[in-house]
Amino acid sequence: MPTALIVGASRGIGLEFARQYREAGWTVYGTHRSEADRIRLRDMGVQTLNVDVLNTSEVAGMAWQLEGERIDAVIMNAGVFGPRNSTIVRPPSDAEFDLVMRTNVLAIMRLLPVVAPLLVSARGTLAIISSRMGSIADSGASYGMLYRTSKAAANMLGKLAHGEYHPMGVRVISLHPGWVRTDMGGPNADVDVATSVAGMRNVIENHQAYSSGNFFDYKGQALAW
Ligand SMILES: NC(=O)c1ccc[n+]([C@@H]2O[C@H](COP(=O)([O-])OP(=O)(O)OC[C@H]3O[C@@H](n4cnc5c(N)ncnc54)[C@H](OP(=O)(O)O)[C@@H]3O)[C@@H](O)[C@H]2O)c1
Repeated sequence: MPTALIVGASRGIGLEFARQYREAGWTVYGTHRSEADRIRLRDMGVQTLNVDVLNTSEVAGMAWQLEGERIDAVIMNAGVFGPRNSTIVRPPSDAEFDLVMRTNVLAIMRLLPVVAPLLVSARGTLAIISSRMGSIADSGASYGMLYRTSKAAANMLGKLAHGEYHPMGVRVISLHPGWVRTDMGGPNADVDVATSVAGMRNVIENHQAYSSGNFFDYKGQALAW
């Protein structure tokens, strides 16, 4: 059976990836930060890894624990939205900028060289959970400016990772989950988490239809960068 690694598996979209992959019989590694989340994931049969993506020692510890493993799908999911009222006319504080850009951008930069060797041996897929809000082509209102900017940068990292790792057999895609009912998406979002994740799994598993170096939504529709 295949193996998945979900970075940020404690709740929302990441937890649902863990649940669905376990249900499908996959071996699942999932990262968490709290003890309660470790126990919940363990009880689902997930191999748990205690990783705050902002903690370089914990990221190094994850690399050590996974050394030699073959991973078919890495879900780079951990993310934060930051200030809801961030707009062009309301710039972020240093603290707001640091939290969003370190979590959504710097962490991916540091995790890419950790997960790439695990994917090379399985000719696996790296799925960066981005957002349509990161599409420059699609941008209009500046609501969520800081988050939008971070996800545009995450998309750049996906494209650069494709250039680096696709020649070694790794497929790299950026995914928009839809507007999903989670802590981040809120109760009024229009997609339930199970539908979003089932759709993204279909895109991740269908190597022929959804090629490396591209940006898709959970329905498989290609998105403009
Ligand atoms: N929901 C939507 O409508 C939507 C739309 C587009 C894109 N997305 C993207 O989808 C991804 C998941 O979103 P979600 O809706 O599931 O959000 P969520 O419910 O707020 O969950 C966020 C996840 O990220 C983890 N995380 C945050 N900071 C972390 C850190 N420093 N180290 C390790 N893990 C960290 C959280 O872990 P803890 O539980 O430990 O905090 C949690 O597992 C994000 O990248 C988000 O930007 C969501």
